[in-house]
Amino acid sequence: MQKVIFLPLNTVVNGEKGKTLLDLAFENDIVIEHNCGGLCACTSCRVLIKKGMLLLKEKSKEENELLIDAGFSTEENRLSCKCEIISESGEDIIVEIPLQ
Ligand code: FES
Repeated sequence: MQKVIFLPLNTVVNGEKGKTLLDLAFENDIVIEHNCGGLCACTSCRVLIKKGMLLLKEKSKEENELLIDAGFSTEENRLSCKCEIISESGEDIIVEIPLQ
């Protein structure tokens, strides 16, 4: 199991390899917009990874381009529908859901 903390409400959930951050939010009644349904065609599911980036699948070229085009070019910006947990560790993943 992988501990994931969603800010700003400090909601702690257990994740596992293969799940995305959007999956975890959905399963735990945490609201993250997802206008395109996870097809990497919008940026409404954007989150900020405050800790644990290395436990998540790397940003694809497509994800990177979408974020840059929308003005979110810093590394911590990710699309939660594309942030798949690839490794479980004792380190927490801390995710901030930005105000839209
Ligand atoms: S829901 Fe549209 S890119 Fe994630």
